[in-house]
Amino acid sequence: MSYTALYRKFRPVEFEDVKGQEHIITTLKNQIEANRIGHAYLFCGTRGTGKTTVAKIFAKAVNCEHPVNGSPCGECAMCRSIAAGTSMNVPCARPFRRELP
Ligand SMILES: Nc1ncnc2c1ncn2[C@@H]1O[C@H](COP(=O)(O)OP(=O)(O)O)[C@@H](O)[C@H]1O
Ligand SMILES: [Mg+2]
Ligand SMILES: [Zn+2]
Repeated sequence: MSYTALYRKFRPVEFEDVKGQEHIITTLKNQIEANRIGHAYLFCGTRGTGKTTVAKIFAKAVNCEHPVNGSPCGECAMCRSIAAGTSMNVPCARPFRRELP
């Protein structure tokens, strides 16, 4: 059995699963719905508050072929390749001390 780090196993994969951070989720979903996204985003805050989690869901929503109410559909080819970690459009930089995704 292959080992999966807890932070990967339990990372929310939908905006709906993120606890709190409502103002940020609302802002990001509105931008997807309005099709007006910025060219870069900076997530700042204390460790473990959902920055990487939200960035990954948002990256999926930006690339999704048919977003639903600002959320990624989870079913299109883009969503599936991002979830599988094989998307060339959504690489994920991590500190060296952690295993690569
Ligand atoms: N707001 C949140 N809602 C739900 N789970 C969260 C939230 N923030 C952090 N987590 C959990 O903590 C783990 C680490 O979060 P992460 O997004 O990597 O934090 P950060 O990038 O801000 O340091 C995630 O795998 C996730 O399970
Ligand atoms: Mg992070
Ligand atoms: Zn999709």
